[in-house]
Amino acid sequence: MKELFPVFKKNKDLVYLDSAASSMKPQKVIDAINDYYLNYSVNIERGVYNLALNATKRVEESRKKIAEYIGANSKEIIFTRGASNSLNMVALMLKKILKPGDEVITSELEHHSSFLPFLNLQKEIGIKLVFVPLEADGRITIDNFKKVLSNKTKVVALTHVSNVLGYKTDVKEIIRLSHEVGAITSIDGAQASPHMKLDMKDLDTDFYSFSFHKMCGPTGLGILYGKKELLEKLDPVELGGEMNDEVTKNSVTYKDLPYKFETGTMPIAEIFASGATIDFLSEIGIENIEKESIRLRNLALKELLKLDEIEVYNKNQESSIIAFNIKGVHSHDLVSVLAENNIAVRAGHHCAEPLHRFLKISASTRASFYFYNDESDVSKFLDVVKKTISFFREVGYID
Ligand code: ALA
Repeated sequence: MKELFPVFKKNKDLVYLDSAASSMKPQKVIDAINDYYLNYSVNIERGVYNLALNATKRVEESRKKIAEYIGANSKEIIFTRGASNSLNMVALMLKKILKPGDEVITSELEHHSSFLPFLNLQKEIGIKLVFVPLEADGRITIDNFKKVLSNKTKVVALTHVSNVLGYKTDVKEIIRLSHEVGAITSIDGAQASPHMKLDMKDLDTDFYSFSFHKMCGPTGLGILYGKKELLEKLDPVELGGEMNDEVTKNSVTYKDLPYKFETGTMPIAEIFASGATIDFLSEIGIENIEKESIRLRNLALKELLKLDEIEVYNKNQESSIIAFNIKGVHSHDLVSVLAENNIAVRAGHHCAEPLHRFLKISASTRASFYFYNDESDVSKFLDVVKKTISFFREVGYID
């Protein structure tokens, strides 16, 4: 698979285990970006000349492909700058309808982008954040979710797949239960979309956010899926060019969905590439992608678990991430040695600081596998981890 990704041609020795931060981009996606700049380079929606009309057509083709891929209607697909932008938009859209004392359910498992926009609303308008109690290993369970769900719950904002522990939360059941009390659901799908078949009809969520750059697509582009009936009732959070229908000195009416939520010039090249991304993922098959990612992760995990010096925080899980530390060694020290050996993993709190507080650690090392990794990546990674343990033992860091 590596041959499909130009970065690996130029970096033959690179062991890339940081796909949860951003995936590599295949030639097909890069070609689609270049296609825009080389053959179009114009704005969309506005011009009546052929180039503009054709570029607009390509953008709408991408939107349709995405909608079909996630089981949605094209009107429900809003292009954004990324998952963080989408999640912030949800909080801002809901700001107008939330009242002081309304409860928003979140969790310590969240990426900051899922939880901070609502923390801000707590300060600004007096909503109350309520945290689902996590199991000892950091999981969200339905039983624990039920403990915090009540008639006061107006929004449920949770992650589908944790960016640190890789846990898949049963959001379908959570969405169903939330709707029983009339709450609106917003799911952070940034780590789910690269690995799982998404089906908005089946999930029945009100909002779902994800980014393209983690799923072999371009940077700077995300999707905010919103249910049509809900989006129709909500106001745009950004005003400006192209999103409006009629403007006078003291009034404005908005365009139909999804355009009322897309202000100014969109990232057109990236939207071209989003269509190519969907084609690419569909050709390989998301099930195959996930199967191979998990297979490689399991090979690595099995060996890491044999090492007494290693602490793994997510032994029993079903995704492609290993969160671990060498006991007594800061994750930044470990990743520096790995980096010197051309092995890319991430250290720190991974924008999930409350989770690290919950786990009572300041930082973790995250190795995230994707389908373009291979067994040689796994053995090089394990080899350097073992050498690093020996090195830290020699210098007296660990016993
Ligand atoms: N959100 C990305 C990560 O988890 C950047 O690393």
